[in-house]
Amino acid sequence: MARRKIIAGNWKMNMTPSQAVALCAELKDLVKSDSVDVVYCVPAIDIVPVAQAVKGTNVAVGAENLYIEDKGAYTGEISAPMLVDAGVKYVIIGHSERREYFKEDDAFLNKKVKKAFEAGLTPILCCGETLEQREMGVTLDWIRLQIKSDLVGVTADQVKSMVIAYEPIWAIGTGKTATTEQAEEVCKGIRECIAEIYDAATADAVRIQYGGSVNAGNAAELFAQPDIDGGLVGGASLKADFGKIVNY
Ligand code: PGA
Repeated sequence: MARRKIIAGNWKMNMTPSQAVALCAELKDLVKSDSVDVVYCVPAIDIVPVAQAVKGTNVAVGAENLYIEDKGAYTGEISAPMLVDAGVKYVIIGHSERREYFKEDDAFLNKKVKKAFEAGLTPILCCGETLEQREMGVTLDWIRLQIKSDLVGVTADQVKSMVIAYEPIWAIGTGKTATTEQAEEVCKGIRECIAEIYDAATADAVRIQYGGSVNAGNAAELFAQPDIDGGLVGGASLKADFGKIVNY
């Protein structure tokens, strides 16, 4: 089955609302594509202006986080129904920065994945190893544990519609991209893990991105790998280069 590529920008904690609108205008023509899905995952405060700015274009809006309850006394949090009402289609879950700085563990992330599906959002579930884990040779064991824990109770049909992003932590924002072979090896391993938990059809359908210092120069080779269905792009999603990555 031919999987459609998906290229998502992860803006992280960058861009004020007015800067966000200006960036959407700058990128508008550059990210046009009939052949890939394009997503901007933006800070919560930018969601409403960005949704407005990309209206009528090929760009979908994503959030960078969500909370596990629909409403109530959770000061500072944002719920899935709020995101949906604001026009959000995708949500990043389990980014390594949230796992590390905000101590989000797999049990909590599993609840977030299920909440996203319940609300009709498409999760972009992140996984990835530290440099130490890679050097110890436990990369795939670690990632399989993350995937299996984060997907407890998630159905095959849900997995078919979701996105998994493999992001080696040592490659994020470091300019140190995984080699094409390293990236493909792990993305293939994730697909095999999905086949084991679910079945071959589910593994064949789920889209798996690579993330970690993707740029205009390395995107084409990475995205040409059989198990890499696009990228989750941090730094390079904030500039005109993102258009080159989309049209790799
Ligand atoms: P980077 O970030 O492209 O700046 O390495 C990727 C990510 O963290 O999603």
